Amino acid sequence: MDRAELERIIAAHAGRKGPLLPILHAVQHSFGCIPAEAEAVIAKALNLSRAEVHGVVSFYHDFTSAPDSRPVIELCRAEACQARGVEQLVAAAQDAAGERVRIKTVYCLGLCSSGPAARHGDSLHARLDEAALVDLVKSA
Ligand code: FES
Repeated sequence: MDRAELERIIAAHAGRKGPLLPILHAVQHSFGCIPAEAEAVIAKALNLSRAEVHGVVSFYHDFTSAPDSRPVIELCRAEACQARGVEQLVAAAQDAAGERVRIKTVYCLGLCSSGPAARHGDSLHARLDEAALVDLVKSA
């Protein structure tokens, strides 16, 4: 972990109201994860307990404790996409992904009326059926 980079990130956000989430997002972006030792440094800088910081890190799916370089398909499994059949697609997506691609559950991509929806990088995909989702996963 680059301690100077971590301290730069903390300093950039420490004066804000509610700095913890912006700091964690910046650390995740910069390091590809939230290293355990970073939790302690952030906690001390924000006068929080390490348990408080870890609780936030472990609550949000956006934060990971170790880097994961696999491609990611974000699959919406919120209510509207559930109503449009996403749960029937999950097993096929996971089979297509294997260990090579990470299928990440998210809750709404803003395409509720045209779900099931997924995102790969900056690309949004709507009205997915099993074949389209499997193709998306295989192309990731
Ligand atoms: S509920 Fe799936 S995109 Fe909104």
